[in-house]
Amino acid sequence: MKGLILSGGKGTRMRPLTYTSAKQLIPVANKPVLVYGIEAIVAAGISEIAIIVSPETGGEIRQAIGDGSRYGAKVTYIEQDAPRGLAHAVLTAEPFLGKSPFVMYLGDNLLQHGITPLVEEYRSIDCNSEILLTKVPNPSQFGVAELNGAGKVMKLTEKPAEPKSDLALVGVYMFDERIFEAAKAIKPSRRGELEITDAIQWLLDNGYTVHPHIVKGWWKDTGKIEDMLEANRTVLDTFDRDVRGTITGSQIEGKVIIEEGAEITDSVVRGPTIIGRGAKMNHAYVGPYTSIGNGCALEFCEIENSIVLENSTIAHVTGRIEASLIGKNVKIGRTHRKPAAYRFMVGDNSEVGIT
Ligand code: G1P
Repeated sequence: MKGLILSGGKGTRMRPLTYTSAKQLIPVANKPVLVYGIEAIVAAGISEIAIIVSPETGGEIRQAIGDGSRYGAKVTYIEQDAPRGLAHAVLTAEPFLGKSPFVMYLGDNLLQHGITPLVEEYRSIDCNSEILLTKVPNPSQFGVAELNGAGKVMKLTEKPAEPKSDLALVGVYMFDERIFEAAKAIKPSRRGELEITDAIQWLLDNGYTVHPHIVKGWWKDTGKIEDMLEANRTVLDTFDRDVRGTITGSQIEGKVIIEEGAEITDSVVRGPTIIGRGAKMNHAYVGPYTSIGNGCALEFCEIENSIVLENSTIAHVTGRIEASLIGKNVKIGRTHRKPAAYRFMVGDNSEVGIT
């Protein structure tokens, strides 16, 4: 079997971070979301993986992931010229996939238990496709599946205004070569994309077998900041305490990971939390559900329930920072310039909240 990870798209709901960075490279607990996907596929025994990238973010993704050997994978990159839909991405990868069955994984999805049970099930039963489903409170934001009394898939609808069920399609799918026929037969949807949901419906309509698998454990689609923070909380909760670095005059409480080379001085770190390599804290508080990236510096400030990307600096901020996603190389601090005032240089589509 082969793996296909979709890592294109514009990530419009994650601007401004996605002006300069692919959304799949935004870290959850200091690891890019995309890496969780690669690891899950490799854990399921699949090492030949293609990553679909966009012309804008392909270079950065290639640089971050390389040839995949670090993860035990052999990674190939395929460029999709524009976001023309998930089924279009599958067609773009047809030369790579050939006649091999494959698992398709949306690069911004996270699954608690990975995909090994799903891949094993697909290998053991005779079907053309296997889909993952889970109950969600807001089905109209996803592809939605209707099952009959016997648990058979009857109908799939992409983001229906009036969903007939609360079973959403999770962004992991298993296919055989029939999917190419389906993707070639369907027409673009209202949003102008070739939808994978419509392609799977085509399989159903044409007598092919689609097996549903209900996901146990949590699943996150990290398209928005709230989802990123929630995924971050969920992943941090699974960690065990592991404190390295240099700790002086500080309190380190609960499930905390402090990586090599970090320096924590006269500070409080309360888990679940991760502090990256070479990060520095001085008279600072990092509270529960926070990920501080490599090389960050925090001084006379308090932060919790947040994600800070690498090499950012936060200093002398009196109010506590909360529910925030702070990009790379950001500087937040106090100036002594007159007039005493807030001074911002903030990118397009940023959000700043002040009490
Ligand atoms: C895509 C699929 C949708 C699925 C979702 C899961 O939506 O089209 O059916 O439920 O992924 O993450 P998109 O993220 O492209 O809006």
